[in-house]
Amino acid sequence: TAQDASLKKVFAKDFGIGTAMSAGQIEEKDPKANALIQKHFNMATPENIMKAEIIHPQWDVYNFDLADKMVAYGKKNKIKINGHTLIWHSQLPAFARNIKSVDSFRTFFTNHINTVASRYDGKIFSWDVVNEALNEDGTMRKSIFLNRLGDDFVTEAFRLAAKASPKAELYYNDYNNEQPAKRAGCITLIKKIQDAGVRIDGVGIQGHWHVGKVPFKEIEESIVQYGAMGLKVMFTELDIEVLPRSFQGADVNQRVASNPALNPYKDGLPDSVQQQLASDYETLFKLFLKYKDKVTRVTFWGVNDGQSWLNDWPVRGRTNYPLLFDREFNPKPAFYKVIGTKK
Ligand code: G3I
Repeated sequence: TAQDASLKKVFAKDFGIGTAMSAGQIEEKDPKANALIQKHFNMATPENIMKAEIIHPQWDVYNFDLADKMVAYGKKNKIKINGHTLIWHSQLPAFARNIKSVDSFRTFFTNHINTVASRYDGKIFSWDVVNEALNEDGTMRKSIFLNRLGDDFVTEAFRLAAKASPKAELYYNDYNNEQPAKRAGCITLIKKIQDAGVRIDGVGIQGHWHVGKVPFKEIEESIVQYGAMGLKVMFTELDIEVLPRSFQGADVNQRVASNPALNPYKDGLPDSVQQQLASDYETLFKLFLKYKDKVTRVTFWGVNDGQSWLNDWPVRGRTNYPLLFDREFNPKPAFYKVIGTKK
C-alpha cells in the first residue's frame, strides 16, 4: 500500500533519494528518525558535522569523530554519503576567519581540502566541494576566500579535491542557481573549471523553495542547461516552506513567542496550504522524472517537519511544514503525491 511505500524503492530506477542527517541521527539517538532514514533513503548529507567549523576547529586540530560515524552508518545501511562541504564562507572556524596573510590563508585552504578529502576518499560517494560562492546577480560573492585568494579559488578547490579524493564525485552547490542571472554566473564559473581541465562532476541546486511559488519553469530550464554541460544535476537541500519569508520589524533573534503573528500555523496547517504543498511536490517530482537521465539525486533537507532548519529561520521558534513527514514522523499528503508520480 502507499502507506508502506519506500521512497528509495519507488525511485530506485530513476535517481537517488537523500536526506540531511543531524548529529543525533548520525549517532543513532533518534529511533523514529533513524527508522525512517533506513526505510526511505539511499543517500545522505550531514547537515552540519562536516563543515569546517566542526571538522577543523583549530589550525592543527581535526575532529573526525562524527564524520567517521556517518561513514559507518552509511556503510551499515547502504546509504551513500555526500560530504558537505569543503569550502564555504559560512560556519568557518574562528581561527580561519582571522587569518590575515594570503600565504597563511592559502595554507589553511590547501591543508583543509587535502586532509579532509583524502581521509574519506573511497569512503564517501561525493563532495560539495564549493558551496554558495555566487551572488544573486551571478557575480562572485564577497568572502574571505575571494578576498584572500581571488576568484580562482573555486577552480583551485576542485583541483585540490580531485587530487585528494580521486574516487569521489565533485560538485558545485548553491541556492537560487536555477534563477536566470545566478544560473548564468554558475555556468560561467563551472565552464572556467572545465576549461582549466579540472574535474567537476555535477551541480547541486539546493531547492529551498516557497509553497505556491516554486519556479518550475526555471528549474526545467536549469536541468536542460546544466545537463548540456555534461553535468549531473542534483536537488541537494530540498524543502518547500509555507511561512512568509520576511517579517517587518522582526530580527533573526526575535523569539516568535513574543509575537504570535510571526507564527501563523502554530496549531496546524490549513488544508488549502497542505494541498498546495502536496501539489508543488507532485509537479516537482514529475519534472525530475521527465529528466531522470540528467537528475541523479534528490535530497531533502531534513527528515521531518519538526527537525527542519526552517523552524529557526529567519526567526527562531516557528512552526514550519516544509518536508514529506510530519512531526510525528507520519507521511503527509505531499508524500502520497510524490509516490503517486510513479503510477
Ligand atoms: O550545535 C549547536 C548547539 O551546541 C548550540 O547550543 C546551538 C545554539 O544556537 O547551536 C547549535 O548549532 C546550530 C547548528 O545549526 C546545529 O543545530 C547553529 O546555531 C545553527 O546556525 C546551525 O544552522 C545550520 C545552518 O546551515 C548554518 O548556516 C542549519 O542546521 C543547517 O540546516 C543549515 O544548512 C544550510 C546548508 O549547509 C547550506 N545551504 C543552506 C542551508 C540552510 O541554511
